[in-house]
Amino acid sequence: MKGYRILVLPGDGIGPEITREALKVLRFVGERYGVGFHITEALVGGASIERHGVPLTEEVLDLALKSDAILLGAVGGPRWEGLDYSVRPERALLALRKELDLFANLRPAKLYKPLLSASTLKEEVVEGVDLVVVRELTGGLYFGTPKGVERLPDGMERGVNTMVYTTPEIERIARVGFRVAQKRRKRLTSVDKANVLETTELWRKVVTRVGEEYPDVELSHMYVDNCAMQLIREPRQFDVILTENTFGDILSDEAAMLTGSIGMLPSASLGSAKEDGMVRAMYEPVHGSAPDIEGKNIANPIATILSASMMLRYSFDMASASEDIERAVERVLEKGLRTPDIYSEGTTKVTCSEMGDAIVEALGE
Ligand code: IPM
Ligand code: MG
Repeated sequence: MKGYRILVLPGDGIGPEITREALKVLRFVGERYGVGFHITEALVGGASIERHGVPLTEEVLDLALKSDAILLGAVGGPRWEGLDYSVRPERALLALRKELDLFANLRPAKLYKPLLSASTLKEEVVEGVDLVVVRELTGGLYFGTPKGVERLPDGMERGVNTMVYTTPEIERIARVGFRVAQKRRKRLTSVDKANVLETTELWRKVVTRVGEEYPDVELSHMYVDNCAMQLIREPRQFDVILTENTFGDILSDEAAMLTGSIGMLPSASLGSAKEDGMVRAMYEPVHGSAPDIEGKNIANPIATILSASMMLRYSFDMASASEDIERAVERVLEKGLRTPDIYSEGTTKVTCSEMGDAIVEALGE
């Protein structure tokens, strides 16, 4: 039997609850398709700080490097907000992205029809939304140096972060963007702030040059402020949005709201191929750890379940299993089942674990 090693990092807040539901789905799919998923669970983020004093141990990083794919819940919470940046829960996530060189972050925002009325935006605006944000994940402001806060001789403090991109960094993420577009509606919008920021002027130049290798993809450029506006004005104009790290962080949260809830958005963070030919990859919901609803069994597990579905597609070449999951999610929504974040009058409110069970059941139908 074919087998894969999956490292599961539930993390903090609602992380353990939502990954538990995604594992139910993976177990079901594994049995149906005769694929063995060998699951290892480990601590990360605040949970790791509590036990080991650091958000990511060498041991867990090593497990991550050795696994075929990683499923991550969420990290962070108010308990650790006072800590120094170097040991905060979020560091674990950033370190995993950097150490595994997961430079390409795919965040599909697709509106499931039954959720048309769940968005805060008008139905005629969000109907049919189906886009992907391709976010550069290991460069830009998040990692650029110099960075930090220094105290100047006169007692004043000075905070610095640096937005930096090299040509190869832009080229490789641009290629991912174009390839994703080729498999979709072949339209790529590269988002920058080339009217003000030199780094992104380079971004625009390099993306344009790489675009010549993909004549079948229609490339356009948009300033990030305009993109933020266009996303809520006329979101259907977008197919693939290609952008740098920080802009992608912000725009993907905005795109999430087009789908009704951030609880719906999955993501895949992909790197380069390892020696065995498999691409390094981590899958996680776009949302955070939601400490306010931790332990209440009311979180929406769909973003994590869809992240597991992306794992099947991108890491294990199991596209039809991935489609099965997407259809099961759609069917459950059609039946009117809703976690509180997507609940509206006339639908049936369910818990996190009930939603997971319902999706497994729909898979079996
Ligand atoms: C995300 C999150 C992370 C980010 C945080 C938790 C570090 O917001 O994945 O979008 O900023 O990248
Ligand atoms: Mg974010």
